[in-house]
Amino acid sequence: MSLTQPSDSGSTSPVSRVTAQTLLDMKRSSQPISALTAYDYPTARLVDQAGIDLILVGDSVGNAVLGYDTTLPVTMDEMLHHTRAVARGVQRAFLVADMPFGSYHASTSDAIRNATRFLKEAAAQAVKIEGGQRRATLIQSITEAEIPVVAHIGLTPQSVHRMSGYRVQGRTTDAIETLYADALALEAAGAIAIVLEGIPREVAAEITIRVTIPTIGIGAGPDCDGQILVFHDLFNLTFAPPAKFTRRYADASTFFASALEQYRDDITARTFPSDAESYHLPRELRGSQHPASPHLTVKA
Ligand code: KIV
Repeated sequence: MSLTQPSDSGSTSPVSRVTAQTLLDMKRSSQPISALTAYDYPTARLVDQAGIDLILVGDSVGNAVLGYDTTLPVTMDEMLHHTRAVARGVQRAFLVADMPFGSYHASTSDAIRNATRFLKEAAAQAVKIEGGQRRATLIQSITEAEIPVVAHIGLTPQSVHRMSGYRVQGRTTDAIETLYADALALEAAGAIAIVLEGIPREVAAEITIRVTIPTIGIGAGPDCDGQILVFHDLFNLTFAPPAKFTRRYADASTFFASALEQYRDDITARTFPSDAESYHLPRELRGSQHPASPHLTVKA
């Protein structure tokens, strides 16, 4: 019996896995695609179980988790490490890994080798690459190596220095025409979806009409085929003022802070751990031991 028997859905797993085809079908049937970043196993499980369709291990891990100022220092090793952790927590969502700055810029063979590692060593289903028409040939080569590619245009954070900061893109006639040409070139190159970041709503809406592949917006208005945000923005975990396009769904920062202060206070007041939270000697040995010996290493 083959381990990869074809099925009507294309799935080889007991849970019906979201695939590139699923995302395309969702666009065709006007079903919005939900997407979110995740960087570790527990949050990946939560995001997946919530029914989010696409999980991106973004290089935003650099800002959100690793404490870098930009995404530029993020390495292949860091991306692989976080992608593996996320993959262990995902059963259903389509898993995309971001190719970090420098991992696809030097040569096509370098880019294919690095992209391959995400599928081979970290169980990603696709990689994401920033840039428009100038990446089309590369995206075609990676796609021909059987690696699905999500493209990313508009405000591309890896271009922070070329853009002279994080600025909304596509606000002049020339820039708008370039974005339209970018989107069409990336679709022709074989990209399976395009992230549209930090562009006017009207431009994102027009791109979404012009291309047949799904558009996933972030700061690109409500007319894209799907929406993505950074996990830490949803939960006030960024220690920075929120961008206009984010929406805070819960205040995990306040929640964690008050729990942590309570924990510290309980230790200070010696109310943690309680007797019920402690292991005990077997009954027959209890009377013969000092009740609070610091050297007891009883494990159950
Ligand atoms: O790295 C990231 O999180 C991203 C999303 C913002 C699309 O690229």
